[in-house]
Amino acid sequence: MKKRDEIKNYYKKKLDLLKKHNKLYFNEDRPIITDAEYDNLKNEIINLEKNNKFLKKLNLNKNNVGFPPSNKFKKVKHLKPMLSLSNAFDWGDMKDFLSKLGNFLNIKHKNFDLHSEPKIDGISASLIYENGFLTKGLSRGDGTTGEDILENLKTIKSIPKKINDSNPPTLLEIRSEIYIGKNDFKNLKGDFANPRNAAGGSLRQKDPEATSKIPLKYFAYGFGAFEPMSVKTQSEFLDKIKKWGFSINPLVKTVSSLDKIEEQHKYVDSLRSTLDYDIDGIVYKVNDLNLQQRLGNTSSSPRWAIAYKFSAEKAVTKVINIVVQVGRTGAITPVAKVEPVTVGGVVVSNATLHNEDEIKRKDIRIGDTVQIQRAGDVIPQVISVDKSKRSKKSKEFQFPTKCLCGSTTQKEINKSTKKADAVRRCIKGYDCEFIAKEKLKHIVSKDAFNIDGFGKKVVDQFWSLKLISKPSDIFDINYNKIENLEGWGELSINNLKKAIEKSKNIPLDRFIFSIGIRHIGQENAKILAGYFKSIKKFSSFFNKSEKKKDFEYLVNLDGIGETQIDSIKNFFSNSKNIEIINDLIEKLNIKDFKQQNKTGKFSNKNIMFTGGFEKMSRSEAKLLVENNGGKVLGSVSKKLDILVTGNSKPTKKKIENAKKLNIQIIDEKGWYKILNL
Ligand code: IVH
Repeated sequence: MKKRDEIKNYYKKKLDLLKKHNKLYFNEDRPIITDAEYDNLKNEIINLEKNNKFLKKLNLNKNNVGFPPSNKFKKVKHLKPMLSLSNAFDWGDMKDFLSKLGNFLNIKHKNFDLHSEPKIDGISASLIYENGFLTKGLSRGDGTTGEDILENLKTIKSIPKKINDSNPPTLLEIRSEIYIGKNDFKNLKGDFANPRNAAGGSLRQKDPEATSKIPLKYFAYGFGAFEPMSVKTQSEFLDKIKKWGFSINPLVKTVSSLDKIEEQHKYVDSLRSTLDYDIDGIVYKVNDLNLQQRLGNTSSSPRWAIAYKFSAEKAVTKVINIVVQVGRTGAITPVAKVEPVTVGGVVVSNATLHNEDEIKRKDIRIGDTVQIQRAGDVIPQVISVDKSKRSKKSKEFQFPTKCLCGSTTQKEINKSTKKADAVRRCIKGYDCEFIAKEKLKHIVSKDAFNIDGFGKKVVDQFWSLKLISKPSDIFDINYNKIENLEGWGELSINNLKKAIEKSKNIPLDRFIFSIGIRHIGQENAKILAGYFKSIKKFSSFFNKSEKKKDFEYLVNLDGIGETQIDSIKNFFSNSKNIEIINDLIEKLNIKDFKQQNKTGKFSNKNIMFTGGFEKMSRSEAKLLVENNGGKVLGSVSKKLDILVTGNSKPTKKKIENAKKLNIQIIDEKGWYKILNL
């Protein structure tokens, strides 16, 4: 008997170890043992079970999803990037979406045909068909590059290996969402919190045999590359691929007014609990592909689609404490620590209170019974207080006027409204240790240096060990100090070293975004990089004491306004920022900014608009110039090549100035002619 117990304990120990490594791999994406070590561990468990039949009966090994982890998936670039979607939460957001469509396209009516599709909460995958044959299957990855998971995708029987058509497209990239049915998930005694995680884990199995045991399903919803293009609308596209053998969600529908949008949203929401797959909203897409093309994308999402989320799940709990957090821009955000409560399957113990004004407005106090809500991946928030449950002794919450670093905070005065901002900020920049730490988290993040395996938790860990305190420290980490730390092993240290080394090659626009100047997001960073072109020019700009001339040029750039200029001035008026950025530059190989191989009608031309057009909005005109290699300027100067005058209220002064400088002037008709419209 004793032997049996010993075996059982040994077996349990090994299972715990397997669980730990599965978690590191699947949940945290940072394995610390090699594939071979993992295989040995798994084989040992299998052998133990084989040789000691009683172990199986204990039913302890619920890790049947969780096979050898692998870093071996090949990275492959998507033919067209896989973007994400912006969100709408209510009728008002959808109204805004329709208005924006109308404004961008300069179309007065708002009754666009929209294709409505349930938003499947699974894992996205891209299937590439060349001459009708499935040749590649990729995970989303960072949207630009995915991982080659073809063999695993092939195990999903309903994915066509060959397009069912005598004359298939030469190239087709099908975008799809892979999921595990809710019922199948119940029968799967896995270690995963929800079907989505299980689907993700299953797709990343090294062994397709393991994937094939898991009942994955999919819905196809879109395309990337499509040559030759043979459809005109999204609905036509889905009909076509349905005939080709792809699985299409049965609840898709074309709608064309705000009322119908709302109706469809409510209808699908009412079916939600009866469906065998998780959905978290409805995606509305402009149905006409030509209009989609005209609308184009922002840096992260298409302008022609939006995810209208289902209303948030709500729960009631109690505020235990109110603490503040300091963000990378110094914003002081109050957070309610609440009694843990399950909201939509997730245990919530923190909820944001937004800002000081919000706490005042809702009169939220420590000890209050509150309703909180959690919508999708958005941070949970406190929505209301049940004042009837409030204790007589409760006191109004006094918002701290000091930052966690001890320095005083400020509320900015908005230049146009002259009103104080709702957000209180610490203005110490890198001198505030809380801001400095958040800035580091931003620097290593996906859209910035994109250092794999260097997440927020790692920044916290390295910060508390004093391994990093400023950006350049990332490139001087003393790895000896982490060797023996919990959660780190030879493999993960090597992976981190490699990822850090790789991140040193960074294009100028990403670098500018990474340094975290307030109001300079990815789009603005690109505009600035387009102006400075090289790090040499950028650094000579900010190291100069007299920057007036540059600012005069910068303000000419379309997209850069007074807010951005003030923010850049502010950032570089701080000598510590300059010192920190200079130290960082030393460590890097910053690549010159290259306008993304966009050449065309307006290559190297500076264009300016005055007056409105009938057939398009200013935003669309601007996008057309940029997509054809040109730049849009905001004022008439010698640098300008063409002034385009719209029929509706052009500014006389601008035309006169352009004439004086001998600049080519094109009227609205001429503009359409250039564009072949
Ligand atoms: S369209 C460029 N349609 O949601 C348009 N996405 O946040 C991008 N998703 O990664 C997506 N169902 O994996 C679209 N019917 C649907 C979808 C859908 C689920 C996922 C998709 C994407 C994410 C976008």
